[in-house]
Amino acid sequence: MNFELKSLDLGGASTVAADALVLLVPAGAKPGRDPLSALVGRALKAGDLDTRAGKLLALYRPDEAKAARVLLVGAGDGSPRQIRQALAAALAALRGGTPAVKKLVLCFAMPPQAGAVRAAVTAAADASYVYTTTKPKAEARSLARVTLGVPKAAAVKEEFARATAAVAGIELAKEWANRPGNHATPTALAQAARALAKFPKIRCQVLGPSEVAKLKMGAFMAVAQGSAQPLRFIVLHYQGAAKSQAPVALVGKGITFDTGGISIKPAGEMDEMKFDMGGAASVLGVFRALGELQPAINVVGLIPSCENMPDGRAIKPGDVVTSMSGQTIEILNTDAEGRLILCDALTYAERFQPKAVVDIATLTGACVIALGAVRSGLFSPSDELAHKLLQAGETAQDLAWRMPLDDDYAEGLKSHFADVANVAGRAGGAVTAAKFLQRFTAKFPWAHLDIAGTAWKSGAAKGATGRPVGLLLEFLLNKA
Ligand code: BES
Ligand code: MN
Ligand code: ZN
Repeated sequence: MNFELKSLDLGGASTVAADALVLLVPAGAKPGRDPLSALVGRALKAGDLDTRAGKLLALYRPDEAKAARVLLVGAGDGSPRQIRQALAAALAALRGGTPAVKKLVLCFAMPPQAGAVRAAVTAAADASYVYTTTKPKAEARSLARVTLGVPKAAAVKEEFARATAAVAGIELAKEWANRPGNHATPTALAQAARALAKFPKIRCQVLGPSEVAKLKMGAFMAVAQGSAQPLRFIVLHYQGAAKSQAPVALVGKGITFDTGGISIKPAGEMDEMKFDMGGAASVLGVFRALGELQPAINVVGLIPSCENMPDGRAIKPGDVVTSMSGQTIEILNTDAEGRLILCDALTYAERFQPKAVVDIATLTGACVIALGAVRSGLFSPSDELAHKLLQAGETAQDLAWRMPLDDDYAEGLKSHFADVANVAGRAGGAVTAAKFLQRFTAKFPWAHLDIAGTAWKSGAAKGATGRPVGLLLEFLLNKA
């Protein structure tokens, strides 16, 4: 999908030919004197146009505009959140109409607030996204071109560029997370990462079973050993600054399907465990966006990827393995596999002497219980790093919430037979998982994002969200 930014007032917007014109009208809007503005003014005065976010007034070929359809939509207080709500409603109303909307003009009746342009771009992309890869007969996305009209384009140029790059990243992340397990194997994921190396400044390296064995990633290999699909360890480099500048490392959980292994999961909704590589997909998405924006920063992306399967060769509860760090781990539950692949990737990250490491993982059902689908769980012993990530989430409207890391939460991870167990009790499951990971992060500032609740939607709107690409990208660009 193509976005363009233009300086347009309502008078200008009314002269643009398009399949539809969507006009965002916030509370307190003071329309100008051109004919379209006058129409908006009359509708407001008559009470036919409600400015609460998402309230719609559809017009058919009004004389005041050249577009085939005109949709006036209440934008509430004009905040990014309400702009997103407004556009979700407007695009839902336009969906399915004939002829399909291919070219859309989206116009702010008032100068947009900070973050409103980003919200508009991401909401328009989100509302029109369709997954088609394994649905050959499905109708593809009809929306091809969105012109964003604002009073002064120059004022929001930077925000617009970030937003369109974020959309490219979010959509790549959605694509890979949505693909079924048999279409998104570790090998396929590595291929997708390799394809990113076509962008300037991006390099990709893929390690297979023998290289990973040489690195002594015993925890990662243990998870992979029950699967017929060979594991892949993906290393992405984005080098936009001098080599001497320490990178930020992103580590994404890439379990392409999580059956639970011998500690097998119940059948209901197990299909959703194809999304268990959502963290990995978000790392690919971030690199896609970096490829677009070419900022002056250094970033390393690490993706341990494999399946978690029950098999004659699979790990069994009670097995003890040796991680790359040298710490031994008693695998009491083979379904707590994410932390096993991540701990070796975290140890591998040490070699880059990173200024920060952020891991992203669909790690625990407990995090879904704690925070639902609204905010990702954020864990970090560093107040500074935690603050920066939370702030980036607010700016990108890709929210997170800080969770605790008190050492008392690690009590349950004690093992009689190894340095550490891979699970504690049911209580505080998202925190104990983070405490496990923390044991492998002594050498750098670290944060962990548990995206189990936010990486995809269940139910009627089942599908990947592309989160937290927006948060991560904002965080990285603030370092530029
Ligand atoms: N991938 C799951 C976490 C998950 C579960 C995400 C449901 C989203 C929805 C992870 O590998 C897992 O199975 N975690 C276990 C940990 C437990 C065995 C300590 C869980 O959350 O049940
Ligand atoms: Mn699991
Ligand atoms: Zn998992």
